[in-house]
Amino acid sequence: MSAKVSEQELLANELLDLQTLRALQFDRLKASISNAYGGNPAWRAKCDAANVGPDDLQSLSDLARFPFIAKADLREAYPFGFFATPMDDIVRIHASSGTTGKPTVVGYTRDDITTWSAVVARSIHAAGGRPGMKVHVAYGYGLFTGGLGAHYGAESLGCTVIPMSGGQTEKQIQLITDFQPDIIMVTPSYMLTLIDAMRKRGIDPKSTSLKIGIFGAEPWTDTIRHEIESATGITAVDIYGLSEVIGPGVAQEYGRAKGSPTIWEDHFYPEIIDPETGAVLPEGEEGELVFTSLTKQAMPIIRYRTRDLTRLLPGDIGPMRRMARITGRSDDMLIIRGVNVFPSQIEEQILRISGLAPHYEIEITRPDRLDIVKLRVECREVVDDVQQKNYRSELVHHIKTIIGISTDIDVAAPGTLKRFEGKASRVTDLRPKV
Ligand code: DLL
Repeated sequence: MSAKVSEQELLANELLDLQTLRALQFDRLKASISNAYGGNPAWRAKCDAANVGPDDLQSLSDLARFPFIAKADLREAYPFGFFATPMDDIVRIHASSGTTGKPTVVGYTRDDITTWSAVVARSIHAAGGRPGMKVHVAYGYGLFTGGLGAHYGAESLGCTVIPMSGGQTEKQIQLITDFQPDIIMVTPSYMLTLIDAMRKRGIDPKSTSLKIGIFGAEPWTDTIRHEIESATGITAVDIYGLSEVIGPGVAQEYGRAKGSPTIWEDHFYPEIIDPETGAVLPEGEEGELVFTSLTKQAMPIIRYRTRDLTRLLPGDIGPMRRMARITGRSDDMLIIRGVNVFPSQIEEQILRISGLAPHYEIEITRPDRLDIVKLRVECREVVDDVQQKNYRSELVHHIKTIIGISTDIDVAAPGTLKRFEGKASRVTDLRPKV
């Protein structure tokens, strides 16, 4: 059971001024770098090779002198090689499974669990959650950080947790109906599935007790936000995080100032780099997000390359900076006949057509050395052949003129495409690997 979060932790962004924040970050960064250097031989070797060490950190900007950590470094150290504390101090392990190879393993000390709970509690509070509210957690429990991260955060805010986990859609709906939660924490794609399933059962998704949805773990757009909010009447906000940095609760969108998630900078220091050269980019420029943990003990992570593409924005509620919502990862980017395409761009075009639903599948093949993109998309209601044809030609036209690629589109009947209970996976790339 997690201890109740302090007022100071909960409202850090509102309470700190910029100067105090920067001083706190510097002190914490120094400690974090010493901890990693002293406790993690794999990282120390990287620093030694780059001829840099803890004494070289004289200001926050000196962080740029330190080497990056990539996912491959963590895989190489599988399973526990990146832990900086003795195994006796580790109270929890999580892991994230990549598309290839071994999972990335992360560890937490007891204090790390307290820190993690505090940043998730802060996130739920920023979203509009308050002690005494009921939180239905439909992120998966287990090695994935979503379920347990949300759970401990909600408990330490003083909420009542319903630890439903992912899947069992019918049961989800029954518990939402019977237990009357105020908040749901779930991937946006599973929320869409739940909305569909409610309608199928004759339940108006607007009639539930839910007021706030805290959605993350995968990219989603404002169009999907609008889709969820108009279907349910709830406030839909974005939560961002990744296992390597801590899990959910690295950044959170405020319910009262929607637009971009605020990074909890007193615990996670952000940089934006040029993904090609590794150079730190000036504030406001788009590039790859890099994080340094400032307070983690078991697995301090210095300059971790997230592969997530975004830009930093000034703070609005307090001094902590925000990040533009992530619309794709550099590894999600598809190169179709030389054109760079993110699946979210295709989704945006689909949802410009009001008769089409946010359920789609993209398949790419290369039969005669030319990329062919097949897109299957669902319509919202049963329509005749003529209407299907109209949807098809309208979408082909939008994608061609806006994104610049040709697509072969199949309009499917409502409810026929695959649904997801966790993170969605909508792209199948069958092209030969070169
Ligand atoms: O997805 C942690 C999490 C759980 C975040 C629940 C939010 C809610 P991983 O499985 O390690 O951790 O995946 C991390 O997911 O690098 C992003 O590419 C993506 N991601 C996470 N949140 C968002 C978001 C969890 N709000 C990877 N928007 C990250 C866009 C997101 N992408």
